[in-house]
This record gives sequence, C-alpha cells and structure tokens, in this order.
Amino acid sequence: MVKNHVENKNWREINPTSWHSPHLNEPLHKRILSSDPETGAMTSIVDLPKTTISDQILAANCELQIFVLEGELHFDKIYMKPGDYCYYPENSAHGKWRAKENTRFLLITDKTLEFFKPEDTSPDKRAKRQVDSWAMEWTNPLDASDPSKPYRQGLMVKVLHKNEATGASTHLAGLMPGWYAHGLEVHPIYEENYCLSGDVNIGEVDGGDGYTMTEGCYLCRPPGIPHGPISSKNGNVNFCYTPSILGIDYEPIENDEQYIFSHLRSYPWR
Ligand SMILES: [Fe+2]
Repeated sequence: MVKNHVENKNWREINPTSWHSPHLNEPLHKRILSSDPETGAMTSIVDLPKTTISDQILAANCELQIFVLEGELHFDKIYMKPGDYCYYPENSAHGKWRAKENTRFLLITDKTLEFFKPEDTSPDKRAKRQVDSWAMEWTNPLDASDPSKPYRQGLMVKVLHKNEATGASTHLAGLMPGWYAHGLEVHPIYEENYCLSGDVNIGEVDGGDGYTMTEGCYLCRPPGIPHGPISSKNGNVNFCYTPSILGIDYEPIENDEQYIFSHLRSYPWR
C-alpha cells in the first residue's frame, strides 16, 4: 500500500467533497490529503455537522484511526475531544456516532470506507476507544523510530497506537524550539506527517527546494526520498503515521548549516 506523494499541502487548499453514508443522517465533508487508488486507503480531514447522528451502532469494513482536531465526536458514551485519538480494527463496532458540535478530525483508513450495522455490537478487544494525548508523557523517540545515528536532545514522541504485528506507528512527534538535525534523512518506508502546531523547516526535498510546515500542512512521502536538514524555530508538534518502524539513514549535505541557521535566525519568533 503506497499513498500518493504529497509535500506540504495545507488542508485549507483542498476542496471538500461530501460523502453520504446511508447510516448517517448528514453527509460527511471530506478533504482527501492522500490516498492509494488501488486499495482506497486514505488520509483525510473530515468535517461532521453538529447535528450528525447514526440511528444505530455502526462498524466499518476497514481499520479506522481518528484524531480529533476540533469539536466533539461521540461514540455512545465516549466523548472524543480535541487531542483524543481512537483506533478500531476492521469490522469492529464503533458505537453510535454523534457530533455534538461541528467537529473536525483526521481520519486514516486502510481501504475504502463503508459503514455497516454489525451483528456483534461490542467493539473488538483490540480497539482503543479513547486515547487522551494530553494525559500522555512525552517519551523517547526510539519508541517510534530506528535512526542510524543518535538524535540530538529535544525530540520526543507520544505513541498513540502501535501495531505489534507490522510495527506501524501512529504517534505525535514534538520538537523543542531551536531543535535541528544535520544532514538529509532517508527512510525505507513512506511517512505521513500532519503539522498540529509550530514550524518545521525542511531545507531540501529530493534535491529541490524545501519548505516550512506550519499548522494544517501535510506530507506523505514515499520511501527513499532524501529530505533535510530539519529545524524548528518555535518548536513543533506533528501527528505522524508510518506503516512500520521508521528506519532513518543520513546523507551529508554541503550547505547544511546555512539551511539550519537561516531558518533559526530569519523565521519569525511566534
Ligand atoms: Fe522524515
């Protein structure tokens, strides 16, 4: 499964498409950040109007991961608020869907999403129905990655979900203000990043111009594309998904320090 290559796309630049499941009273509004045309696997920003409700307990035919950005999404008596994450394996019941407010969330599915009314209305035991990211501690980045050289201090993660069979990891990655890393990174797998806050500068991507990610920007980068050096002036939190543990190799780059220090010195303090 490989989703299409996207670099630094802000969801606000994407036109929403509406999708009406017969099991919901209102259409969803979906902005597709990246997708795999073969399987229908998709990462999207989804908006639900505050009057959305399902009349019965729903399940989906696919694995489903949600990270709430705004509003409040209810599954039965579970009230998902901004910063909450959930994971449901395929064919697991979710509960009755309801949006209490206009609600926006990140949605990751591993194939084309279809809702249905399950016979077994209790969620799969592997489901994580509510993970409050605010209650979690920042931990060692090696919990979600496998770099070929040590990290500089100031990079931390919160692992929201890990698939023990594949090593797939859904996590938040946090950078301290002023953090940077020398060289270009190269990964053997694709990576997805959605910027929740702050700034993160990538000097070059695949030998071409880089950019600064800010809130609402997304990338889905196939394996083998050199990118870096990476720096953050004001600090940064990214929501990340990788289909297995993120191996990282490094390549040198000639104007390494120029990229890093021009971002740190010239980008505005915020
Ligand atoms: Fe990377």
